[in-house]
Amino acid sequence: MAKMTLKDIDLKNKTVLVRADFNVPQDENLNITDDTRIRATLPTIKYILQNGAKKLILMSHLGRPDGKVVAKYSLKPVALRLQELLGVPVGFLSDCVGDNIKKGIEAAKGKVILLENLRFHAEEEANDAGFAKGLGSLAEVFVNDAFGTAHRAHASTEGVAHYLKSAAGFLLEKEIQYLGNAVQNPQRPFMVILGGAKVSDKIGVIENLLPKSDVILIGGGMAYTFLKAQGKSIGNSKLEKDKLDLAKSILDKAKALKKEIILPIDHLVVDNIDPKAKAEIVGENIPEGKIAVDIGPKTITLFKEKLKPAKTVVWNGPLGIFEMDAFGRGTQEIARFLSILGATTIIGGGDTAAAVAKFKLEDKMTHISTGGGASLEFLEGKVLPGIAALSEK
Ligand code: 3PG
Repeated sequence: MAKMTLKDIDLKNKTVLVRADFNVPQDENLNITDDTRIRATLPTIKYILQNGAKKLILMSHLGRPDGKVVAKYSLKPVALRLQELLGVPVGFLSDCVGDNIKKGIEAAKGKVILLENLRFHAEEEANDAGFAKGLGSLAEVFVNDAFGTAHRAHASTEGVAHYLKSAAGFLLEKEIQYLGNAVQNPQRPFMVILGGAKVSDKIGVIENLLPKSDVILIGGGMAYTFLKAQGKSIGNSKLEKDKLDLAKSILDKAKALKKEIILPIDHLVVDNIDPKAKAEIVGENIPEGKIAVDIGPKTITLFKEKLKPAKTVVWNGPLGIFEMDAFGRGTQEIARFLSILGATTIIGGGDTAAAVAKFKLEDKMTHISTGGGASLEFLEGKVLPGIAALSEK
């Protein structure tokens, strides 16, 4: 990539400002329930410390406090978890810009400091130039490792990069390598698995990846709008009526491009969405009143058969309501199959990453993105502002 990366910058005796995405889930007592995003930034943090940086200032957002100080969105619990994971003291400052913060950084005994939630200031999301300059004035170089927020043109992701030499951290670099380069220049056959509730969420991805991929396999709620567009009966399954023409035009386009779009050929159906509801397998056409909640066994076999020769697989969106164990078989079996396929397997973030984690297959995939919206926009082929703003090599 033509953007500067961590290894391109001299860190010796420098004060380094790092934008991380520490937007982690917490329970009602503010305990962090999944620290994947904190762990994912450790290689960057450790490298900066090992390469002689004077101070390492970390900044992030947490939740959507809308420009106001909201106690439950404080990053303090993240500082404590980071300290545990790093094994060195992590100082915490109760704001992120201004003279007091500069003094706090100077006075801090340890090298690592986490600033308070950037989104406590409305200027962050507004990408206010003065605020971005204020962040920039805290350090001598900027490292962006916040892939999950790279699709937002905010002061700490985009604006600040105009004031300092700016490089991608290791996590951002890895995400670009897999979601960007591997998709632009894939080893073939290149197959894409798409799922999730809505066609509307995945239109951009289909349009970008249809010409690039060899086969697209579609499951999850979004499959039913495609099946309806093919004239199949879908009972009471999820239908986006206003996307029927679009689904039809995507199917026609695939035909014209001689690309395969594989849709489910059988389904697990229920009368109402409840894990205790009586479920049954039906064929291609779903009877009146029934709701499909997972792909059926014949579809699982068909998907595996199609995926067998793949050298690169990108997967975005679960194939059924995997959160309910009774409706998770399709997603689990395809995840298991990918884990032993021997192909480059790239898992889009959000729900798909959660599904892979639920089935304990995280270590068996080539790359699991830490971005939800960001990975989707990247797969749509969009330029992400947080990446675009980094210094050229
Ligand atoms: C995410 O969790 O997707 C990122 O942290 C971005 O959060 P946002 O959607 O609130 O900008």
